[in-house]
Amino acid sequence: MTAEPASPAAFRRAGVVGWPLTYSRSPMIHRHWLDEFGIDGSYEAIPVPPEKAAAFFRNLGAEGLVGCNVTVPLKEIAAASCDVLDPVADALQAANTLWLDNTTLIGANTDVGGFIDNLDASAPGWDRYPGPAVVLGAGGAARAVAYGLWLRKFEPITIVNRTVERAATVATLVQGARGRGLSALPEALKDARILVNTTSLGMKGQPRLDIDLAPLPRDAVVNDVVYVPLETELLATARLRGNPVVDGLGMLLYQAVPGFNHWFGKRPSVTPELRKLVARSLEDA
Ligand code: ATR
Repeated sequence: MTAEPASPAAFRRAGVVGWPLTYSRSPMIHRHWLDEFGIDGSYEAIPVPPEKAAAFFRNLGAEGLVGCNVTVPLKEIAAASCDVLDPVADALQAANTLWLDNTTLIGANTDVGGFIDNLDASAPGWDRYPGPAVVLGAGGAARAVAYGLWLRKFEPITIVNRTVERAATVATLVQGARGRGLSALPEALKDARILVNTTSLGMKGQPRLDIDLAPLPRDAVVNDVVYVPLETELLATARLRGNPVVDGLGMLLYQAVPGFNHWFGKRPSVTPELRKLVARSLEDA
């Protein structure tokens, strides 16, 4: 008996679009799930320069894609290219997950959900008594984190950044947030319930994140969005003084779930096995 060839119509292609795309772990994550479900599909790394990005997103169907993830620096262009945005992508004017509904291009921001789901899974009860929160940095990740903290009722949310104007801009996007310069950090840490680093400091190949955690209450959760290395100096220091710590890998894994579900019709799980697979690949990063 000969096997039927797979119908070309059934084959689904998705991918991650960014520029440059040096070390995205998204293909590894989605291919793991494709294998797990035995789905006839693919997930590729698709480098697209910013000047070509809007046209690429508008022609997603013609490119043969059912949807895509979007990474830096194209999330704002992606949001502007969509016909419909989910409320989070609309609030942040940044989309990291796109899919086609017939010919309508829909954009979502799943970084916020990824941040929240990671904390829910890794530090259950982290938002039971929401109070002051401190976010270090004012880039795209800071926006997603601050918005997630607002959704979970933390207030005030102090965005602390080297460039205070950028912190102020993030604060205009998120209710209950305020922007401050680095000198405000010791005071802001004093009564914080959670501290999240969203800067690139502490990442392999980047300068150290040199901050004094002394004022931070020992029951405050400390989360680093950096995941190379998995245990950053910030997390190691926080762990030693007794703070509950959450690494950044989970945010990457959980933000991927809704996209896979839209493109391939199955809701995947973030399992210890997947975490181990990606963590192992980061060791040689
Ligand atoms: P992303 O969008 O991925 O979050 P980004 O926009 O490049 O990344 O933001 C990086 C963050 O790290 C910024 O908050 C940046 O501070 P500035 O806004 O002042 O540039 C912060 N950052 C990077 N290098 C830094 C350094 N040496 N000292 C302090 N902050 C730094």
